[in-house]
Amino acid sequence: MNYHGIAALHRRADRVLPRIFRDYVNGGSHSERTVRANRRAFDRWAVVPKCLVDVAECDLSGAFLEATHRLPFMFAPLGFGGLMCPNGEIRAARVAASVGLPMAVSTFAIQSLETLSRVPGVTLAAQIYVFRDRGITRDMLRRAESCGIRSIILTVDTPITPLRLRDVRNGFRNLTRPSLRHVLSMAAHPRWTAGMLRNGMPKIGNLAPYGMGSNLMEQARNAASQIDPTLTWKDLDWLRSVWPGQLAVKGIMDAGDALACQKAGAQTVIVSNHGGRQMDPAPSSLSVLPEIVEALKGETDVILDGGVRWGGDVVSALALGAKAVGIGRPWAWALAADGERGVRSLVDGLGGEIRDVLRLGGMVDLASLRAQGPAALRPVS
Ligand SMILES: Cc1cc2nc3c(=O)[nH]c(=O)nc-3n(C[C@H](O)[C@H](O)[C@H](O)COP(=O)(O)O)c2cc1C
Repeated sequence: MNYHGIAALHRRADRVLPRIFRDYVNGGSHSERTVRANRRAFDRWAVVPKCLVDVAECDLSGAFLEATHRLPFMFAPLGFGGLMCPNGEIRAARVAASVGLPMAVSTFAIQSLETLSRVPGVTLAAQIYVFRDRGITRDMLRRAESCGIRSIILTVDTPITPLRLRDVRNGFRNLTRPSLRHVLSMAAHPRWTAGMLRNGMPKIGNLAPYGMGSNLMEQARNAASQIDPTLTWKDLDWLRSVWPGQLAVKGIMDAGDALACQKAGAQTVIVSNHGGRQMDPAPSSLSVLPEIVEALKGETDVILDGGVRWGGDVVSALALGAKAVGIGRPWAWALAADGERGVRSLVDGLGGEIRDVLRLGGMVDLASLRAQGPAALRPVS
């Protein structure tokens, strides 16, 4: 598949997916201002072109989540990612393994950690929530460890699930079986529907050991109500004491909170507003990145996600101090658009754009970008 940018994958995904899943992926909370803010924030920065530097070679490898990866981005955790096409998460994991980028597995993944960790060469991070029943959280940590996973990502920006109008309109999470409207929408999207039907009714495989319901929607509702809204910093200390491996805390948008993560012993902070699906209106993740980077003084790694759609966005985030970025919706769109081939073209395309921008900015690797830092950028007036 020729790569025409992430926007083209998005358009194609919109045509392939039935409305309930298209809206689930694309949507945000309340006014969706935060979704738009994430994108707009990148438009405010430009990379300064620099000339007469030997840029024949350009190396994008760098260390984050306690390992060296060939590209400075990762697949952010997406609940129900495997619904985008049959065996979606397995296909994404294969691409991640072959190009050397890590993939975060959502608690709400259709495939289990065990299945995904069998993809040869893949580096996974397990995304977890602290559930009301701490036994489940402990068991997820045990499973991650026995799958050889060294990094966990604790998501902390979801004490509640706010109103997401598109999901309410579609009955997402409230349905126990598809309504006539959904059946008609599925019939109107035969490619997706036929692929899914061949594989049987999907379930949240990652939660299967905990018996949370007999179908996907029931599991989703019960699991969401398990996310503990009473969670405090004490619980982060608890988690730190039971998980000796790499700990990243995701959903941090405030410098004080970032410092508290550092104090609790997290090696990585993920600056994220959940892709505009939680607080609305929230600041864009890019706009709070510099103050968080400054507060952490280089002692804790920072990863950013939210609205990253072009190679230039990745370069801007790295210049402002992120070690790497996460991409969320783009890998879902790529799967829906063209399965494994779509994801491969996304990763190759984004990697190619990052190389273009670095080289035209007179840089040959991430170290030269870091050496320049914000000086590599200019605000767009
Ligand atoms: C459909 C969808 C499902 C998501 N599910 C999860 C999840 O299960 N756990 C989590 O920590 N974040 C989840 N996120 C947030 C992403 O990990 C990430 O923060 C966000 O998508 C980044 O923004 P982007 O989509 O603009 O790249 C989800 C996001 C989307 C769009």
